[in-house]
Amino acid sequence: MPLVRLIYGSSVTEKFTGDEIRNLLVESRKNNAKKNITGILWFNRNYVMQALEGDAADVNALYLKISTDARHKSLMLLDYRPINKREFSRWSMGLVPEIKRIKEILIIYTAKGEFNPYTLVGDIATDFLISLREEVVSE
Ligand SMILES: Cc1cc2nc3c(=O)[nH]c(=O)nc-3n(C[C@H](O)[C@H](O)[C@H](O)COP(=O)(O)O)c2cc1C
Repeated sequence: MPLVRLIYGSSVTEKFTGDEIRNLLVESRKNNAKKNITGILWFNRNYVMQALEGDAADVNALYLKISTDARHKSLMLLDYRPINKREFSRWSMGLVPEIKRIKEILIIYTAKGEFNPYTLVGDIATDFLISLREEVVSE
């Protein structure tokens, strides 16, 4: 199967708490590493945005699983494409928490400088997450 990158956005639920995020990271890194899935996860108090790169069958199966996870809701597929190379190859799940510099980055990609993943689709979703690579806090 081809190498693909999938990007989605979602809204966090009350189940998305500090402890849950830590569990999620440990579990996800282990699972993703086994499947050679790489990616980045950005979140704030309201929203999540995640890119997943890997074999199409593995990425599709993972997205199906993630889409039923009660820690978030209202998933929207923002971009899905075959790729020549990975952009997030350094991380099985790179984490970008809310950061001060996000304002500077958001104003490049949005009209009002506010983060709402449902408005970031296609190339914009990809470029936005690439611009967050330098902000990954843990690998
Ligand atoms: C925002 C979000 C992102 C997630 N990302 C991943 C991921 O990259 N890899 C992964 O294995 N699970 C991820 N999960 C967790 C899965 O939904 C699921 O709980 C986990 O894969 C364990 O599934 P299992 O019990 O069937 O092994 C994510 C969950 C949420 C809410």
